Amino acid sequence: MEITMIGHGYVGLVTASIFADAGNKVNVIGRTPEKIQKLKSGDPLIFEPGLEEILDRNLKNGNLNFTLSYDSIKDSKIVFIGVGTPSQKDGSADLSQVRVVAKKIAENLGDNFTVISCKSTVPVGTNVEVDKIVKENASTGAKYAVASCPEFLREGTGVTDTLYPDRVIIGSESQKAIEVLLELHKPIGGERVITDLASAELIKYASNSILATKISFSNLIAEMSEVAGADAGIVLEAVGLDNRVSDKFLNVGIGYGGACFPKDVKALAFIGKSMKLDTGILDNVEKVNFRARHRFAKRVIDNAKGKKLAIWGLSFKPNTDDIREAPSIDIMNDLLKAGYELSVYDPQAMGHIEGIFGDKLTYADDKMQALDGAETLVVLTEWNEFEAADLEAVKKSLVNPIIIDGRNVYDPKQMKKLGFKYYSVGRRDVK
Ligand code: UDX
Repeated sequence: MEITMIGHGYVGLVTASIFADAGNKVNVIGRTPEKIQKLKSGDPLIFEPGLEEILDRNLKNGNLNFTLSYDSIKDSKIVFIGVGTPSQKDGSADLSQVRVVAKKIAENLGDNFTVISCKSTVPVGTNVEVDKIVKENASTGAKYAVASCPEFLREGTGVTDTLYPDRVIIGSESQKAIEVLLELHKPIGGERVITDLASAELIKYASNSILATKISFSNLIAEMSEVAGADAGIVLEAVGLDNRVSDKFLNVGIGYGGACFPKDVKALAFIGKSMKLDTGILDNVEKVNFRARHRFAKRVIDNAKGKKLAIWGLSFKPNTDDIREAPSIDIMNDLLKAGYELSVYDPQAMGHIEGIFGDKLTYADDKMQALDGAETLVVLTEWNEFEAADLEAVKKSLVNPIIIDGRNVYDPKQMKKLGFKYYSVGRRDVK
């Protein structure tokens, strides 16, 4: 079928490419001519493993079309809204882009029935507002229905997450819209959850927030383990063996970042407060997450030797170049304030970090170069190449063989054997 996706960020571009690969004709609308030009030439603009090949294949076979024009809406069975909903100062989601595109969709609807489906993460009630905007701006007699179809892909594994999700959520008050969306999702795996608009909207925030809660809970256990002389890794592994809990998202360290968890926990708390509910549980998830970063920066300041530190890892997690809300930013700001010189390396995120820090940092060409003249190594993202590093060579390069590890990448016993002073999170360190 012919569909249109408005927005080409992680969610928009990955889902559009997968639907095109399944044989649909997919139009992707953007608003920046240079970006659309690059997308047309096969440049995905983001680093997402496996995406470039799919993009290339579907540009060649004509299933994917990038455009600045809203013309394709009139021929599309489904129009997805996949634009950004960033946090505002008060924590609420900024819906201005959603409102703008809702009006544009209304103005471009054709004669056939069209499903207008939100993929963006939006507060409860937004799709009702979209419906109202479309009603006010569409020509009389326009045939359409609004649906909510939230996306759960993770950066770095976006392609497989989209093809094989745990579940597909379809929320709508229109049976016809539900049927059209079910047809589109036929080649996609996962359970189907068919529900109303408000529930679908809430499912997305609740899903991200419970995962963020697991992470902050784990980081609180890490703090307690340090005081108690326990090992948070062992405690949480044992907790995760209870299959009611599961062993996922219990990794301790410097906490969560990225475009979703920080924004969505804040937004859900804002939604709760606007309902006059006590959102203490969510407020504390955020508090512990913030504390994890600053606590770790203090650990570095308390234990590092020398004024020059090597930093390995800048992106908010491995396999992405994304640094939005990355813990590395707060931690490096604390370290710069404390007077350290930082020599940094990340396999993908160097350009983005340079855009923020400019000449305040030294940018290394590779991980070993970052160690030159440094006295201590600080690890902030668990990229494979850091886990697989030749630690004997690292030891030789460091003036002082100290590693301070924010992601518990290495085994303390092995570090001791190798002769490092090693500090990590929530474990008994070797000194
Ligand atoms: C998340 C959700 O997982 C995804 O379903 C949703 O669609 C978008 O938000 P993403 O932000 O890409 O995906 O990354 P994710 O792998 O969930 O990690 C988020 C953050 O949590 C990262 O900073 C990661 O380092 C951190 N994390 C994750 C932990 O600190 N501990 C863990 O155990 C797991």
